[in-house]
Amino acid sequence: MKERDQLIDNTPVLEAKNLYHVYTSNEEDGNVVALRGLSVSIKAGEAVAVVGPSGSGKSTLLKALGGLMKPSAGSVYLNGQNMTRITGADLVRLRQETVSFIFQEGNLLPDLNALDNIAQPLRHAGVRAKEARKRAMEMLESLGIGDRASSLPPTLSGGEAQRVAIGRALITNPKVILADEPTGALDPITGRRIIDLFRELNEESGVAFLIVTHSREISSFASRALELRDGRFVAQHGNDVDDLDLAATRELLIDDTGTLSMPPDMLATLGGPGRFEIQDIERDSIRIERVDEERLEIDEGTTMVLAPACPACAHDYGESSEEQCPSCGSTRPMVPAS
Ligand SMILES: Nc1ncnc2c1ncn2[C@@H]1O[C@H](COP(=O)(O)OP(=O)(O)OP(=O)(O)O)[C@@H](O)[C@H]1O
Ligand SMILES: [Mg+2]
Repeated sequence: MKERDQLIDNTPVLEAKNLYHVYTSNEEDGNVVALRGLSVSIKAGEAVAVVGPSGSGKSTLLKALGGLMKPSAGSVYLNGQNMTRITGADLVRLRQETVSFIFQEGNLLPDLNALDNIAQPLRHAGVRAKEARKRAMEMLESLGIGDRASSLPPTLSGGEAQRVAIGRALITNPKVILADEPTGALDPITGRRIIDLFRELNEESGVAFLIVTHSREISSFASRALELRDGRFVAQHGNDVDDLDLAATRELLIDDTGTLSMPPDMLATLGGPGRFEIQDIERDSIRIERVDEERLEIDEGTTMVLAPACPACAHDYGESSEEQCPSCGSTRPMVPAS
């Protein structure tokens, strides 16, 4: 068995630079900026988790990275090749050879049995039917569901269906798997088994993962977790991340445009937005202090709470703890408690 560390080399298998994505809409609620200048780099053989509140752009990011959707701006490199520059058959081939997708649900073609679902990506890549089915059968057996080969997806259990989806994703020997809450629809035990399977693939075969998931699964699997807020990575966590208390394990990120994004709970601790004097800056360290007169606005000891209504469109949040406006997509600010 090969060790994971030997399999991680420094070549990024997947890299995104300065991604923006705007969903345009003609309706009165207007455009939604889902990605705002996001950059990320995944090395070959690495396993990285993505955490962040609902609406922060996790699914949009995965779709842009996997070439399922063209971002409004920015570049995605798969195995060193700029995916946003190539088109047609070349793009299809690059994707087939490099990246596979697993969603929360709906990964399978309902009219094909388990075996043919797994064989289909090989058929697309030009493999003859007999050979494709033989390899699909071996895959089903290695996933422990050889006996379900001729079952149609609606008759499979959630865990079986997700294993077929994994088989589909793996059959083309991808270098990286993008998974969007792949265990979200499963019971915890089945979910854990699927994560164990991912870990095995990562550790033993060096398949890289970028996976949107929850803390209880992250610690057993990914070596780091990136925190997405409002379309940008604002922080990174080690594998001890606790998604109920992200402040505990957070490291801030400054991207290569020099932008530092501060998560709303940290901004509240700091006493809210304002002007800061640079007290000290040197290689690897910076200390800033609020400019005095700005402090008048928010006294020390003031408790900050999530705004009760959206400042942009006046949507009333009621009892909800959402951090993004469901009606206009604006970030929910923190305000002094009244
Ligand atoms: N097809 C679309 N058209 C318009 N807006 C969209 C579309 N898809 C997503 N959005 C908006 O873009 C933002 C990011 O959505 P995305 O689905 O990427 O979030 P997410 O982090 O995956 O959320 P969740 O945890 O709920 O799955 C949200 O404000 C969402 O409403
Ligand atoms: Mg999503």
